[in-house]
Amino acid sequence: MSPVEKIIVGLEERSYPIFIGPDLLKEADTYLADFISDRQVIIISDTIIGPLYQGSFTKKITPLCTRLGNLFVPAGEASKSLSAYNTLCEEILNIGIDRKTVLIALGGGVIGDLVGFVAASLLRGIDFIQIPTSLLAQVDSSVGGKTGINATAGKNLIGAFHQPKLILADTSLLSTLPKRELLSGYAEIVTYGLLGDAEFFSWLEENWSNVLSLKQDQIVFAVKRSCEMKADIVAKDETETGIRALLNLGHTFAHAFEAVGRYNGDLLHGEAVAAGLGLAFDFSVAKQICKPEDALRVHAHLMEVGLPDDYSALPAGKAAVSTLIKHMKKDKKAIAGNLTFILTHKIGEACVMPNISENELTTFFMAKGVNHV
Ligand SMILES: NC(=O)c1ccc[n+]([C@@H]2O[C@H](COP(=O)([O-])OP(=O)(O)OC[C@H]3O[C@@H](n4cnc5c(N)ncnc54)[C@H](O)[C@@H]3O)[C@@H](O)[C@H]2O)c1
Repeated sequence: MSPVEKIIVGLEERSYPIFIGPDLLKEADTYLADFISDRQVIIISDTIIGPLYQGSFTKKITPLCTRLGNLFVPAGEASKSLSAYNTLCEEILNIGIDRKTVLIALGGGVIGDLVGFVAASLLRGIDFIQIPTSLLAQVDSSVGGKTGINATAGKNLIGAFHQPKLILADTSLLSTLPKRELLSGYAEIVTYGLLGDAEFFSWLEENWSNVLSLKQDQIVFAVKRSCEMKADIVAKDETETGIRALLNLGHTFAHAFEAVGRYNGDLLHGEAVAAGLGLAFDFSVAKQICKPEDALRVHAHLMEVGLPDDYSALPAGKAAVSTLIKHMKKDKKAIAGNLTFILTHKIGEACVMPNISENELTTFFMAKGVNHV
C-alpha cells in the first residue's frame, strides 16, 4: 500500500494541505473532520461522478455535520457557464446557508472551478473543499485557488482567486476515469517536468506506462511531484503576477486550439496542451533559445504515450494563422494586444517571452505548414 502523501500549499493564514494516496475517500471522515465537524455541508458533483461516489462519501461524513445537502450539475464543460452558476447559487441559497457552511467540490476541473467560484461569491466567500476525481484536477486545477466560469467572449474569463481549505486527491478514483481523460491529465504532468524539473521528465520517460496503468506507487508519485511543483509556484506567486505564468508553458497555443474547436468536446484540454508543448519547444528552437534535441525528446515522449504533439495532429483540423493569432491575442497574458509566450531554454527550464510579434508567429506557423489565410 502506498503511503499517504501530504503537501502544504504555503499561503500563511490561507495555507492548506493536499493529501494524496489510494482509497482516501473511504476514510474521508478522518481527513475532513477538522474542517466540517458541527458545520453544514453541501456536496456538489456532476451527473457522472455523483452516482459513482457521492452516496458512499455522504454516508461516511454525515455523522460529522449538522446538516448535509447533495447537489448535481450536468457533466461537461457547459456547466462552467453563467446559467449553471446562477442555478447552483439559487439551489444552495434555497437550501439555506450561513457563513460557516462548507461546500465540497467532488469532481473534475469543471466542478472544482464552478464550485470554487460559487464558494467565492456566496455571502462574499464561504469555505470549500476540493475532492478532485480526474487526473487533471488532481495535478492541476484543484491546486492554487483559480476558480471561475466561461463567458461567450472566452474561457475562464469570469472568476476569482479563492483557495480551498483542503484537497483530498484519492488516486483510486482514477480507475473509473475514461482512458482519454486520463491521458489528457497526463499532459499536465508532463508540463511540470518540462517547465521546471528535467529529472522528473526523465522519470516520466521511464515510468509513463506504470503511471497510466495506475500502478499506485507511480501514480501517487506523479501526482505528488506535480502538486509539489504547483504548490511551490503558487506559494511564491498566488495571483500570477510573476512566475506562476510559467505553468502556462504550451498553454497560449493550447487555448487558441481549444477556441478554434469551440470547446465542442472533440478536443480535450490536455490534448490541446500536449500539442501546445510540442509547439512551444519548436518555437523555442526557431527562436534559437533551445536545442533541437530537446524538442525531439518532447515530441517523442508525447507520441509514445499517445498524445498529439503538434497542431496538425489535432482533430479540430487546421485553422488559418490569422484565426489562431486572433485567439492568442485574447489570452489573459496578452497586454495591449502584445503577445507573451512561455517558452523554454531547455527541458526543465521555461521562461517568459514577451513582445512576440505577429510576423514572427506567422512565419513560424507557415513553416509548420499552417495555412496563411
Ligand atoms: N483552476 C485551474 O487552475 C484550472 C487548471 C486547469 C484546467 N482547469 C479547468 O478544468 C476543466 C477541465 O477539467 P477536467 O479535465 O477534469 O474536466 P471535467 O471536470 O469535465 O471531467 C472530465 C470528464 O470526466 C468525468 N470524470 C471525472 N472524474 C471521473 C472519475 N473519477 N470517474 C469517471 N468519470 C470521471 C467527468 O464527469 C467529465 O465527464 C476545464 O474547464 C479547465 O478550464 C482549471
